[in-house]
Amino acid sequence: MDGPSIIDHLETDCFCWLNVQCSSVKQKQGVFYVIFLPTHTGEMTAAPAPGADRVRVAVRVRPFSQREKDAGSKCVVSMHSGTTTTIHDPRNPGHTKTFTFDLAYWSHSGFHVGSDGVFTSADPSSEFAGQREVFRDLGRGVLDSAWQGYNTTLLAYGQTGSGKSYSMIGFGANKGLIPSVCEELFQAIENRERNQEYQVTFSMLEIYNEQVRDLLSGAKQPGGLRVREDSELGFYVDGLKSVPCESYAQIERLMQQGTKMRTTASTHLNASSSRSHMVITLQFKQVFPDRGLSKQSSIHLVDLAGSERQKSSGSEGDRLREGSRVNLSLTNLGNVISALADAAVGRRVLHVPYRDSVLTKLLQSALGGNSRTTLIAAISPADICYEETLSTLRYAERAKKVRNKAVVNTAALTPESRAGNSKLLPGGGNSSMAAQPASPPAEPGSRPGSPQLPWAHQLAQAREEWRQHHVALAQERQMLKTLPHLLNVNEDPQLTGVLKYFIQAGSCDAGRAASNAITLQGLGISDKHASFTNLDGKVTVTPHSKCKVVVNGVPITAKTKLQHLDRVIFGSNSAYLYVGPPSERGGEDVSRFDYDFFQLERAAAEGVSVHRLGAGSGGDGHADPSVLAAFQDYVGLMPLVSEVNQMSEELKKGLRMELKVKNLASSDSRGYDLQKEVMVKVTNQRTHQVWVWSKAKFINRKFLMEELYQRFLDGEDSRVAQEDDPFWDPVEAVHLGSAHVWLQPLAYCMELEEQAALLNCDGLEEAVLHVRVRPCSPAGRACGEEDVVIDPVELLGRRMDFQIHIVRCLGAQWLKEDAERGVQMGYRIYDLPHTLYTKPIWKTVNPQIEESVQFTALNASQEFLDYLQTNALIVDLWGLQEGCAELSCSRQDLMVTGEGHIMVDTKDTAAVMTAGQTPSDQTPELSLKLLQLQREAELLRAVNRALREENASLRGSLERAGPGPPAREPSTALTVAGDAALWPEGDRERDWQASCDRAFAAALKAFYQRVNAATGQLLRLRRQEPPEDDQMLRPFVHRQAQMLWDSGDLLESSLRTLKRDVALIVKKRRERPLQSE
Ligand SMILES: Nc1ncnc2c1ncn2[C@@H]1O[C@H](COP(=O)(O)OP(=O)(O)O)[C@@H](O)[C@H]1O
Ligand SMILES: [Mg+2]
Repeated sequence: MDGPSIIDHLETDCFCWLNVQCSSVKQKQGVFYVIFLPTHTGEMTAAPAPGADRVRVAVRVRPFSQREKDAGSKCVVSMHSGTTTTIHDPRNPGHTKTFTFDLAYWSHSGFHVGSDGVFTSADPSSEFAGQREVFRDLGRGVLDSAWQGYNTTLLAYGQTGSGKSYSMIGFGANKGLIPSVCEELFQAIENRERNQEYQVTFSMLEIYNEQVRDLLSGAKQPGGLRVREDSELGFYVDGLKSVPCESYAQIERLMQQGTKMRTTASTHLNASSSRSHMVITLQFKQVFPDRGLSKQSSIHLVDLAGSERQKSSGSEGDRLREGSRVNLSLTNLGNVISALADAAVGRRVLHVPYRDSVLTKLLQSALGGNSRTTLIAAISPADICYEETLSTLRYAERAKKVRNKAVVNTAALTPESRAGNSKLLPGGGNSSMAAQPASPPAEPGSRPGSPQLPWAHQLAQAREEWRQHHVALAQERQMLKTLPHLLNVNEDPQLTGVLKYFIQAGSCDAGRAASNAITLQGLGISDKHASFTNLDGKVTVTPHSKCKVVVNGVPITAKTKLQHLDRVIFGSNSAYLYVGPPSERGGEDVSRFDYDFFQLERAAAEGVSVHRLGAGSGGDGHADPSVLAAFQDYVGLMPLVSEVNQMSEELKKGLRMELKVKNLASSDSRGYDLQKEVMVKVTNQRTHQVWVWSKAKFINRKFLMEELYQRFLDGEDSRVAQEDDPFWDPVEAVHLGSAHVWLQPLAYCMELEEQAALLNCDGLEEAVLHVRVRPCSPAGRACGEEDVVIDPVELLGRRMDFQIHIVRCLGAQWLKEDAERGVQMGYRIYDLPHTLYTKPIWKTVNPQIEESVQFTALNASQEFLDYLQTNALIVDLWGLQEGCAELSCSRQDLMVTGEGHIMVDTKDTAAVMTAGQTPSDQTPELSLKLLQLQREAELLRAVNRALREENASLRGSLERAGPGPPAREPSTALTVAGDAALWPEGDRERDWQASCDRAFAAALKAFYQRVNAATGQLLRLRRQEPPEDDQMLRPFVHRQAQMLWDSGDLLESSLRTLKRDVALIVKKRRERPLQSE
């Protein structure tokens, strides 16, 4: 038998009498206990019902954040009947997934915020679940289990910002589960009437990067506290401070203390709280002296790290992928849950990897062990979080399968502990805290077997600490009212406003050194960083030489007066809100100056805006979601880049990182804007080597850099082998820019030769490409005008040969910057399986490339001809640097003709040209122009068709008229000449027709050349960025309008010319039969 079995029970008003047979690890098998379970809430404390050991899962969806509202987010989550949650795929309307959990909390809408700030249901019909409702189900469940003597665990899981801490800790007046559970626990203790004794201890720890940090102890231990294993008790944290508590107020104070420690760690050690797990453990023990037994419950309350990091850290393709341990615990928690879920459904599981990470060691009993466990899956309602939300729901789905084996933890009192209990300490009401623990706590918190101070002594110590803290708090409250001060602003709203620095009258210094009146921690903060003066409530800040101080987004270098609610950033990213003296204060809401506010303000000051990334193109006034996502990424990464630059400087790595937006100004082969993506350009300032990192790689590297930097700060050896250095990478070829060469002429068998600009991701010219695309015979002889076709349809099913000749690259910026560098060009046409590269050319600013490749479409398909008419050949410019591998491609998987030409249009697929290309950004005017152009072209094709038909019918009538009886005389000649006499006539006819076709082809050629020029102009127009300066906006708009006008004129005049030419040809055509008659 595994757990306790209830063999008898009796209920009274406030007790439930149970006769239990127990066989837990700690109890000898077959021992019988009689237990009184208090029904403290007046409710029945249910005996463990069958199935009660399943992990309970609740899901909760929060309201939109301001950022989501600004982005015009849509809600993709719906909930029904308190248990089901449905998620709608925003990119696939109608595609939904439904999950069923024990509880589904709708906290997204239907609420109203009271004058006290508490969120409650807006009306009786509202489905809204506030903190009270969540506590009623989950918090009470925890308390009930604890009173019954079960270990209990509450875990909050979800991506950063999904509301984990809101549910667990709460925010302002909206108290979360942890404070409410603690408060009710003490209330219930106070209301006890009987002579029972209770012991509560509180501990608070954080796991960051597999290191355990005690949040209640000032003593810093390099490498963190050790997790050890005891044969009887399992894993525990050695040396963790566990504070005896007598009241809820004391717990509140301890939580404040812990939060402060967390905040300091987050700013000082640069350890983002979103990547750390916070574990609060309450040891709750009830002693029943009369019965000679005690009951003990460990209550673990866990606010897990943001789940999204799991994915991004696995930065694909980064050679240092496995290096960081920052997500190990969370990843492993997933593995443990998966293994247990598999086991629960009868799959064979050989091993549950509890030992693989610190968190899972400490939560071993919570998952699959002796605990009643609940998981809260916190989710965002927003469409942009769809993937993460779905992954959270899937995680929760797995967790609900996990089965635990909870038992009531009872122990017999030893004679000594009975004696100890006679000296009771004063407690609330008639109850009291027991004086001596009967046995060491079974969970992380204290070292088993270590000598413990008597409970009374521990309580007295805790009371003294509490008293001192109380005095300090009262002092601080007073100072907040009277003195100007700085309040920290953290990425995590829970940690904002926790650190307070007062600016006393006179002048004072601020910086890293402890000798400063204000000790500021954080990256890029110098020993003496800045000084403050406070003269009659007028406060100024002056940065010390070269120290970074930013006020309201703008870097300052000289003495600057601070105004109430100014935003101040010290070093790379230590953000503070300045609160002025009482005379300057009003009743303003300071909560709007959150971390996002700071970052957006800084970004705006640096000229980064959604607009610059191409917003407004959605046409409905809202930015394109992909542009918004890129913008948010950009703003989010800005402070991280600044931190990395600081670490690089301090560690003397010589790297400089810069944020870039990939495809900011690039378009796909059809001219549509490409999906924008944030990337980081890394430059070695000494060697000028350049790398380009993806966002995922950058974040992954940043974790590793932080680890290295931490070692450096701790005074440890921070040297690493080159291959393990997160600041190092082998050099690679760098993508510099690309040029569009429109292929339309090729569809008419016409040559094109161009000098196209190779534009970089910012839309600036990196170089000019000279290229020629020439239709030719299979033997490579250039086609002439006589080969030009009037309608590409004429090429359908025919063999087409053409050569792409990369002539040269002019004025490469890359080579101007460093003459030792080289370049290569790469391109890929239609269905070529991979890119072809030209040979590398080093150390020449205007490299003459002169490389020509012949391609053959043996049987030109309609798709290929369509592709030629609507797509451009994209030629990429790659920068080579010393020591980097040159780009090459194997020609093995290319199909070649007998002559050795590369074959294209080899697949019978229609999807080639459009796959993966979605227009993300089109200026309405431009698309309108293009559409118009396409219609005109279609019209011309129709004219062409009509002409041919007319031609054919005229020819028919000519033939019919030709051999008729009236032609007596000429018939002699005909007779004389026989059939042969017809030939000269036929030849003339053919010559005449060919001359017509040539005229038509020439007209078309001129037309397409002009259209190409106009298309180029339109693309340039699209890439132009509006000026930052509002004053310049009017001239800019004027210029743009002029250019648009010019392009329109060009298009219209080319159409006019073409129509005129066609009309002339038609006229000639009509006159001809008349002449011949
Ligand atoms: N149920 C909710 N009701 C109102 N606001 C919420 C709710 N859940 C989260 N929030 C708000 O959303 C933001 C992010 O929540 P937080 O709990 O800090 O997320 P996490 O801890 O998962 O990173 C906070 O500003 C918080 O106040
Ligand atoms: Mg949080």
